[in-house]
Amino acid sequence: MHTCRPVTRMNGAAPEWFSGLRAMAMILVGAGAISATALAAPPPGAKSPDAPAKGAAHAEYVGTDTCATCHAEVSKGFASNPHTKMVLMPGNATGVTCENCHGAGSEHVAGGGDVTKIFNPAKASAKEVDEKCLGCHAGAHPDFERSPHAKASVSCIGCHDIHGSKEEALLKAPQPKLCFQCHADQQSQFNMPFHHPVNEGLVKCTDCHDPHGTFGNSNLKSTADQSAICTKCHTDVRGPFAYEHAPVKAEGCTACHSPHGSQNARLLNMPSINTLCNQCHSRVANGTVHGQGAGSDELEPCTTCHTYIHGSNINEAFLR
Ligand code: HEC
Ligand code: HEC
Ligand code: HEC
Ligand code: HEC
Ligand code: HEC
Ligand code: HEC
Ligand code: HEC
Ligand code: HEC
Ligand code: HEC
Ligand code: HEC
Repeated sequence: MHTCRPVTRMNGAAPEWFSGLRAMAMILVGAGAISATALAAPPPGAKSPDAPAKGAAHAEYVGTDTCATCHAEVSKGFASNPHTKMVLMPGNATGVTCENCHGAGSEHVAGGGDVTKIFNPAKASAKEVDEKCLGCHAGAHPDFERSPHAKASVSCIGCHDIHGSKEEALLKAPQPKLCFQCHADQQSQFNMPFHHPVNEGLVKCTDCHDPHGTFGNSNLKSTADQSAICTKCHTDVRGPFAYEHAPVKAEGCTACHSPHGSQNARLLNMPSINTLCNQCHSRVANGTVHGQGAGSDELEPCTTCHTYIHGSNINEAFLR
């Protein structure tokens, strides 16, 4: 897993972090600029995406300590939040944290906690929430907006809980529990007799999927060489082989395997190996091709002889 620790990322200056910093620097500089514009009174009805809150166009930043005077509990809990690292972001000389998400708070404060003058993600649309979070996180999650989750209005806070989480990555619940809250069909697949050990904690949904979206179908991740994510762990079937089995490359692993779970050993799609093969190789084992006669040999699994079913470097029929 590549759960990069923020501080090492800063020291190591990894490219991803670097671009993240740049994006963050831009948003902070931008936020300052926009609040100045807002003070210069925009025309009535003008929509500024970075405006502090819908009803607080003239608000200014007051800083975290002021928020803490009335929101003691939330502020205390925030001390261990990774978002305290916002103060390390370039341009954040003022030490603003709360207001990076909630918008400039002076009018909210002046109003004694006027809730119409502060941005509350819990009451905002999915799109508004995503825009706010992606203002800083688009560098790491550039595909979110076209992901099935975003399209179904599952926003960042559908899975993340900024103030209440006790889990890694500020998740609402640990995997796979989090995912099963909405994906009950998949839960039953992982309860089948043969399954990837997700409930056992050995494999995670996010080993194969990126819930923040990918270029592939079904939020599927791919390996660095853009081939199926499966070969990241099952390296022996990766190839390339001198003699490829066409469907492995053409249709992928799911031509023969059910990725979550199956009633059949080896996660196969079909109850017997021969039925599986015969879907594409019209009953070759019926005695004619193999010259063995249609006796008991017919029932012998094809892979007894065609052992290297994923491809071979020595034999074009994948024989031993
Ligand atoms: C003078 C006291 C005071 C200060 C200072 C203050 N708040 Fe509030 N805040 C309130 C009160 C009162 C409420 C309403 C609480 C309720 O209804 O439960 C509130 C509500 C909120 C809400 C929820 C709004 C909603 O729609 O329900 C957010 C978010 C919030 N404050 C953030 C902040 C932030 C960020 C700061 C610092 C910029 C801040 N507050 C400073 C008193 C304050
Ligand atoms: C990374 C973004 C982010 C930061 C930083 C942040 N919040 Fe929030 N805050 C949220 C989100 C998201 C919600 C809505 C939570 C939910 O799903 O109910 C929220 C809700 C709230 C609420 C209203 C709900 C409640 O718990 O009563 C208050 C008050 C609040 N935040 C105060 C603060 C204060 C004070 C700070 C700084 C110490 C702060 N927030 C920093 C994202 C943030
Ligand atoms: C102003 C910039 C900014 C905004 C806006 C922002 N974040 Fe962050 N976020 C950060 C920084 C900085 C970190 C800590 C550094 C890091 O982990 O790269 C962070 C860390 C995180 C983490 C990783 C926590 C961990 O344990 O690794 C999650 C999850 C996250 N943010 C979600 C959100 C969500 C959801 C929102 C919107 C409600 C949001 N952020 C809004 C800057 C921001
Ligand atoms: C469908 C659930 C889901 C949604 C929606 C979601 N996340 Fe996440 N997020 C996760 C999970 C699960 C992880 C842990 C990643 C892992 O284990 O590989 C994570 C990790 C993260 C991290 C820390 C590690 C990393 O990969 O950078 C950040 C930051 C983050 N999410 C931000 C966001 C933001 C911003 C949004 C909205 C634009 C969002 N997430 C929407 C499930 C979700
Ligand atoms: C070993 C890799 C792997 C793991 C682990 C995995 N998935 Fe999948 N998942 C896939 C593949 C591959 C597909 C595409 C299936 C297809 O196209 O036939 C898929 C498809 C899906 C779909 C689309 C509907 C469907 O069933 O085809 C959902 C939803 C889904 N997975 C959710 C999850 C959840 C939730 C978890 C964790 C509990 C999870 N997946 C774990 C590989 C995986
Ligand atoms: C708040 C509900 C919710 C949570 C939590 C959630 N999802 Fe989803 N997910 C959805 C919805 C809604 C869709 C889009 C409709 C659909 O395809 O089911 C979706 C779509 C997907 C898809 C694409 C399905 C397809 O057919 O293309 C995958 C894969 C997926 N989710 C995996 C996950 C994983 C992995 C997690 C946990 C990290 C997770 N989801 C958490 C609601 C959720
Ligand atoms: C994160 C690593 C990982 C990824 C990615 C992964 N697997 Fe697995 N796979 C495992 C583990 C662990 C097992 C269980 C091994 C065991 O029980 O001996 C397993 C078991 C299997 C089995 C059953 C093996 C047996 O001997 O019964 C098959 C078939 C399989 N995976 C196919 C796939 C396919 C297809 C994909 C892609 C959709 C995939 N795997 C992605 C780790 C992974
Ligand atoms: C043409 C069908 C087919 C395709 C496509 C296919 N497999 Fe298999 N795979 C099988 C069969 C059949 C077995 C069972 C072999 C046996 O039991 O003798 C198997 C067994 C496995 C096993 C168990 C260990 C082993 O090597 O026997 C793993 C792991 C596996 N496949 C992973 C994958 C991955 C990863 C992909 C995609 C890169 C893939 N398979 C594509 C047919 C296929
Ligand atoms: C999804 C379709 C599909 C499935 C399922 C499938 N194959 Fe294939 N197989 C092909 C295709 C396509 C070729 C390439 C045919 C060609 O080049 O004429 C091929 C080639 C072969 C070859 C090499 C043939 C030659 O002419 O050199 C053998 C042997 C073979 N398959 C055995 C099997 C066995 C055994 C199984 C079951 C474990 C199986 N196949 C499952 C589609 C499939
Ligand atoms: C007893 C061992 C054995 C079994 C069992 C077996 N095969 Fe074969 N198969 C062979 C041999 C030997 C060849 C010839 C290889 C050659 O000509 O290089 C062959 C050739 C093939 C070819 C390529 C021949 C052609 O048509 O040109 C395919 C496809 C094939 N087998 C599929 C299957 C399927 C599907 C099954 C199971 C239903 C199966 N085999 C069972 C031994 C076996």
